[in-house]
Amino acid sequence: MSLNYRRCMALTYCRDGAVFVKPPHGDKLLRLAGTGRRIWECLEYPVTVDEIAQKLACEFAGDLEKIAGDTGRFLTSLQERELVETRSEAPSPEDRQRFRYLWLLKRALVNLIYPEHELRMRFLKNPVAGMSDLEWKRYLRDIRYREPDLYQVLIDAKHGVGLSAEAPYRFSHTMIGMPALDNLERCAETVFAENIPGDFMEAGVCQGGASIFMRALQTAHVEGNRRLWVADSFEGLPPPESEPDIASGIDFSETKEPSVAFCLEGVRDHFMRYDLLDDGVIFLSGWFADTLPIAPIEQLAILRLDADLYASTKIALEYLYPKVTPGGFVIMDDYGFLACRQAVEEYRIRHGIDEPIHFVNRSCVYWRKRI
Ligand SMILES: C[S@@+](CC[C@H](N)C(=O)[O-])C[C@H]1O[C@@H](n2cnc3c(N)ncnc32)[C@H](O)[C@@H]1O
Repeated sequence: MSLNYRRCMALTYCRDGAVFVKPPHGDKLLRLAGTGRRIWECLEYPVTVDEIAQKLACEFAGDLEKIAGDTGRFLTSLQERELVETRSEAPSPEDRQRFRYLWLLKRALVNLIYPEHELRMRFLKNPVAGMSDLEWKRYLRDIRYREPDLYQVLIDAKHGVGLSAEAPYRFSHTMIGMPALDNLERCAETVFAENIPGDFMEAGVCQGGASIFMRALQTAHVEGNRRLWVADSFEGLPPPESEPDIASGIDFSETKEPSVAFCLEGVRDHFMRYDLLDDGVIFLSGWFADTLPIAPIEQLAILRLDADLYASTKIALEYLYPKVTPGGFVIMDDYGFLACRQAVEEYRIRHGIDEPIHFVNRSCVYWRKRI
């Protein structure tokens, strides 16, 4: 019986075409480039050495037997670093279909399916001077190869922290990257496997991508009886008013950063495009200070906070954290922002929360409420 390998949750980010992963023990990051990075990507859901080797042999036109041997040794080295888990039983055909559906959905949500368009938009705004119409059309067609460095930065951002200063494009349905979507998937799998009761919730949804993925996880696992709460002003962030937010110098309010202000109608429309809008999705439209204190939420198995600000994070934790069931997960997307981190740390200290914090990427963290 062939072993099935799957990568473990670990701090992951991408730079210069390489993936950096932090093994659970030790501080040293493992750098995976070229074939190593490709194998890491293949480990998103359970696969055997032979399945990976067949993909690589096809992609790199190499010798299957040699590739299988090299892949097996590479996986053993990942296993020694506790970066992959193994199972002897293969996923059922239904599980495999679900993994592939979710795999494709994640790529659609971060726009890894048509990433060239984001580069094209950038160049349509600032055309290269002096090109004939024909040269310009060829340039746009071949943009991936004409601008390989920019293309790589964009792909790395989508495989890392998501939207970033290096890749400031705002046209995907979620601005979080693949590791944060993978983290949601793993949290949901644990919740379902261990029957942790409660709904899912995201506070701070922008275009809705991460929330859409949460509903997809519920429906794909036939757990659609759990509800999904989707809270946002649907008119962007409030201007910074608290001291930590003012000190951070971050102002993403609508007049400064209109792309983060997405209307309710647009978010509902995004849910519909993925065929995931149903009466189990409940929108809480308005400022957290007005909606969260009166929202009829009973229990949350997954709470995802992604609101950038100290003030927004503070109020969301105050009203929502007590609803998280023991064994449930709390995900803080903006822990990398000093002001948001301050709100989290203050809340944890005030309430004696000492569950360990795990990094997903350089900004997003999660912890599991003690059972
Ligand atoms: C970074 S975006 C969320 C990104 C999103 N999770 C994704 O998947 O791309 C932050 C969102 O938080 C919302 N927000 C921040 N503070 C808020 C508040 N106090 N009340 C309501 N919405 C708020 C903003 O409107 C914005 O849509």
